Amino acid sequence: MSDSDVKAGAAAPSIDHNRVLIFDTTLRDGEQSPGATLNLAEKLEIGRQLTRLGVDIIEAGFPIASPGDFEAVTRLAQDIGQSENAPAIAGLARAHKMDIDRAWAAVQWAKKPRIHTFLATSDIHLQHKLRMTRNDCIEQVGEMVSHARSLCADVEFSPEDAGRSDPEFMWQVLTIAIKAGATTLNIPDTVGYCTPGEYGAMIEGIVKNVVGIENVIISAHCHNDLGLATANTLAGIRAGVRQVEVTVNGIGERAGNTSLEEVVMALHTRKQVYGNIKTNIDTTQLVRTSKMVSAMTSIPVQPNKAIVGVNAFAHEAGIHQDGMLKNPLTYEIMRPETVGWSETNLVLGKHSGRHAFSDRLKSMGYELTREELDHAFDRFKVLCDKKKVVTEADLEALVADQIENINEIYKLDAMSVTSGSGNVPVASVRLIDEEGEPHQDAALGNGPVDAICNCINRITGADARLTEFHVHAVTAGIDAVADVTMRIEMTDDNGKKLLFSGRSADTDTMYASGKAYLAALNKGLRRRQTR
Ligand code: KIV
Ligand code: ZN
Repeated sequence: MSDSDVKAGAAAPSIDHNRVLIFDTTLRDGEQSPGATLNLAEKLEIGRQLTRLGVDIIEAGFPIASPGDFEAVTRLAQDIGQSENAPAIAGLARAHKMDIDRAWAAVQWAKKPRIHTFLATSDIHLQHKLRMTRNDCIEQVGEMVSHARSLCADVEFSPEDAGRSDPEFMWQVLTIAIKAGATTLNIPDTVGYCTPGEYGAMIEGIVKNVVGIENVIISAHCHNDLGLATANTLAGIRAGVRQVEVTVNGIGERAGNTSLEEVVMALHTRKQVYGNIKTNIDTTQLVRTSKMVSAMTSIPVQPNKAIVGVNAFAHEAGIHQDGMLKNPLTYEIMRPETVGWSETNLVLGKHSGRHAFSDRLKSMGYELTREELDHAFDRFKVLCDKKKVVTEADLEALVADQIENINEIYKLDAMSVTSGSGNVPVASVRLIDEEGEPHQDAALGNGPVDAICNCINRITGADARLTEFHVHAVTAGIDAVADVTMRIEMTDDNGKKLLFSGRSADTDTMYASGKAYLAALNKGLRRRQTR
């Protein structure tokens, strides 16, 4: 295929053996985490932060999946994909013409658009899921990669479930994909089945046996079902992988995907092992990005999570503390400031002006419109009256809460709840709908939170059921902001149970609970409207 056959888009990235491209799929595979639905404003904020972080490619979504996904990928291509040093914007498509055309319609606006198409190659998937023969698979890959390439200069092909595929058959499919114009071959361990030795050997086999492989970039895409995703991805890099598909905080289907921050910091810290292989990542943005993704997906980061967990650089044992005081090298293999920890402790107070407030939000990766900034600043001032010192963690919670609630069908207008021993907890709630109409009711519950949820269900007529409830104090102290995360289950029109999460922060834990429940419920109701 010559370049004149290609309609649009910048050429695919060229191979640099000293550089690993970071393909971030937080907004696609990451958003497939149960309950992690993101609204458009959240996707755009995360997209901007990923650009600041320095990722090379953003997989923005799966455009055929829903009108909302299509709109999000289009907007990311139009807004983020046009910025200076813009990352490439990829859209996922099954190896079907309709999917590919839809993906192209969404990503075409980016300076560097990419179509990422996939078809399974394992016999388990071919026989039981797709009911196709191996020959059908080869034919479909040839036709569909070639169709994608007729639209876009940068085409990635993934043999889904590569980790359980017959290697010789997969080599054949990959050879066909290259002939048809694929520029990146991504090798997914879709079910997280491989061990590092196996995954590395699979890449070596591809390097040796696929015709034309020297002209394309090999990519790793690993799931974490056995907790081996990062190890497998790194084994892939040693065997010749030069693109890694990762998510912030490792979020994703089931046990998640390879975590971006772990791979980046392993390459950064262990040059003796991986050689001088670089990424374009600004490591000082890692913690900020992690916090933003956690706040917006309502998926908390476990405290002992490598690099971005709150305990990742905390030293508890006396012997460790003594060593650290004498020389940090005794117990630290990297400095907290290298990954952006130190900057997150800066504080603001009630004397901080609008300018300082807006500058701080910008440095945290938030670009708010004037109206959003006004609203956030008003809330910040209210918070300052309740709390002497406002940290970045408080601001993160405050702004994430505001962005999450942009798309509200119902807004919480007033709420009161009584509880205690000897009386039945009761909540009264007033909601305002999109037309500005008030709706109010009261309900009992087996505790105050239950009463609030029951009351909101009564008003909205929703069948939602609370399945998870977490409260955590954003900072220490009696005046701490309570950060509440809730997960609810709702049934769609086909009787399928779906999870939605909501998060909210307030110094009043019950009020934050009401808002978190409503945030999750609004997502479920909105989804019903758009499907
Ligand atoms: O895990 C997987 O196989 C995927 C593909 C769509 C690349 O996410
Ligand atoms: Zn995946």
